[in-house]
Amino acid sequence: MENIEKREQLYEGKAKKVYATNDPNLVIVDYKDDATAFNGEKKGTITGKGVINNVMSNHMFQLLEQQGVPTHFVEQLSERETLVKKVSIVPLEVIIRNAGSFAKRFGVEEGIVFDEPTIEFSYKNDELGDPLMNAYHAIALKAATREEIETIKAMAFKVNEVMKQYFDTLNVILVDFKLEFGKTADGKIVLADEISPDTCRLWDKTTKEKLDKDRFRRDMGGVEEAYQEIMKRARSA
Ligand code: TMP
Repeated sequence: MENIEKREQLYEGKAKKVYATNDPNLVIVDYKDDATAFNGEKKGTITGKGVINNVMSNHMFQLLEQQGVPTHFVEQLSERETLVKKVSIVPLEVIIRNAGSFAKRFGVEEGIVFDEPTIEFSYKNDELGDPLMNAYHAIALKAATREEIETIKAMAFKVNEVMKQYFDTLNVILVDFKLEFGKTADGKIVLADEISPDTCRLWDKTTKEKLDKDRFRRDMGGVEEAYQEIMKRARSA
């Protein structure tokens, strides 16, 4: 993309900053090394995370585009910066689980593998602590229309199929992950935000070692090493 100029900062989130550009339909996301957990209560830095999440996310989005999933991705600009389509984020966190990371909620063992993936939504609202919501709640609150929810569900399950296969080639189990969707100026739903070890639970297939942000959330140590390990496997795939 020629002649793109970075303009004013529009927004600073917990893990990324967003900048305007000279094109009203495009923005630049800038990935930080900042890490938070439990709705921002726990704060820290994961050195090198911003670069890894930027590169990994872009790799996933390009793979998904090839498989027919529309995303906000346009072009990587630098180690930490990517040009994306400007969207209004649908205020739903969409979570797919292939295995029982919600073990505590239902009293089952962590890691129990489901016959079919599950999907759930959280209302994207930090003040309320992102409460769990169902499709009827989302429609009632005008977070999304019924049609948009159907589109989002179909896209999320497709993303799961593509990503599960991809991580399998890295000897990694995709336990669960969180997606966010956005609406472009012309009303099209596209996959947005990021797909990275911040937003996925990734376990080594052989050892079941955690290679994701749970190491930070649960003070397990080896956080940077886990991100680097995933990056190393992705690069050599
Ligand atoms: P959960 O089991 O805590 O609900 O998390 C499900 C998945 O979503 C897991 O892969 C981590 C990811 N996630 C986020 O990306 N952002 C969040 O704020 C939370 C709570 C989870």
